[in-house]
Amino acid sequence: MKALILAGGFGTRLRSLTCTRPKQLLPLAESTLIGYIISQLTKSGINEVILATGYNTEQLRSGLENSANSEVTLHFSVEPQPLGTAGAIKHAEPYLQDVERFLVLNGDIVSDMAYNHMLQYHQEHQAVATIALYRVEDPSRYGVVDITTNGQIHQFVEKPPPRQAPSNLINAGCYVLDSTILEQIPPDQEVSIEYDVFPQLCQSAPVYGWEHHGIWVDTGTPASFLEAHHALRGKIGKTPQIGEDTKIASSAQIASDVTIGNHVTIGNNTKISNAVIFDDAIIGAEVTIHQSIVGHGAIIGKALTLDKYTIIGDGAILDTGAVIPPGSVICPHYRIKKGACPPDCLVKNLKAL
Ligand code: GDD
Ligand code: MG
Repeated sequence: MKALILAGGFGTRLRSLTCTRPKQLLPLAESTLIGYIISQLTKSGINEVILATGYNTEQLRSGLENSANSEVTLHFSVEPQPLGTAGAIKHAEPYLQDVERFLVLNGDIVSDMAYNHMLQYHQEHQAVATIALYRVEDPSRYGVVDITTNGQIHQFVEKPPPRQAPSNLINAGCYVLDSTILEQIPPDQEVSIEYDVFPQLCQSAPVYGWEHHGIWVDTGTPASFLEAHHALRGKIGKTPQIGEDTKIASSAQIASDVTIGNHVTIGNNTKISNAVIFDDAIIGAEVTIHQSIVGHGAIIGKALTLDKYTIIGDGAILDTGAVIPPGSVICPHYRIKKGACPPDCLVKNLKAL
């Protein structure tokens, strides 16, 4: 079985962390997001993986070389420009010549799906496509399906307007597709599987839904990136996850919902909750960090407060006395001196990154 991972998106909602690395190389579960996804595939016996990439190929390639998984053969299908989710699948056709069906994964989902069970379901139902589904409270930012009692999908709507979703069963970003579907996607064009393929296909062919009940998080936003860390840590235990060679002052208070990387230093009386701190960060004394993410090697001065999805880019330096409004997104390698945060250090105010 081959799996194709869609990894060509720009990760815009996770800037400034994605200014310095593709989203798939964000740290997760002692590895990276892509490392985690690949290790889950190997649990279902899938060991040939095609990465559909674009602008981010070289960084991804070297990131994956560093955390090489010897069980897996990797191929890169590189798009000259973003071709959309279905265009990317079509572009990878040369790697899919010899199979009757294959698995497709969105490259930003953390889940513990049993891909082998899904594949079995697909074959039992003689489906042309099987879409993994997940039940959520608010489906409006996802693809949403309407499904019959026997599991067949007869309607697929991408990001429906509020209160117009046909159900709360969403596209979980994982599909088994029969190779015949490749014939229906025009080559070298931008095509979306969610907008251009599934809505029509489910009216003309057997498309089935397979509901997943375990862990499932789309890591695309700061809130969901934190949630993904929590979901995986929940499996390990109720203590913070702390990397190697990290020095935490004994008076610091680190809540159980915190992930701290390797070689991090945390000063006296600092309080951290619901946060992820990347490798090599230096956090001063009396700092408060809540619901926030601190990038690789960032330095946080004494007594600062980071809150409400503040994101500190890699290598940024926040001097003692800097004022960091809640929800700030600070560019990588910026230095913020004592006093108000100048507007150009915020990602949302930068035109060119
Ligand atoms: N290679 C390639 N080329 N990959 C792409 C492209 C492209 O042009 N565009 C997007 N991708 C990748 C992204 O990197 C991501 O891994 C995946 O396709 C989905 O794109 P997102 O931008 O993250 O979409 P979304 O989160 O808004 O919605 C998608 O995921 C939801 C589940 O989280 C849709 O598939 C929804 O239907 C689904 O419910
Ligand atoms: Mg997404």
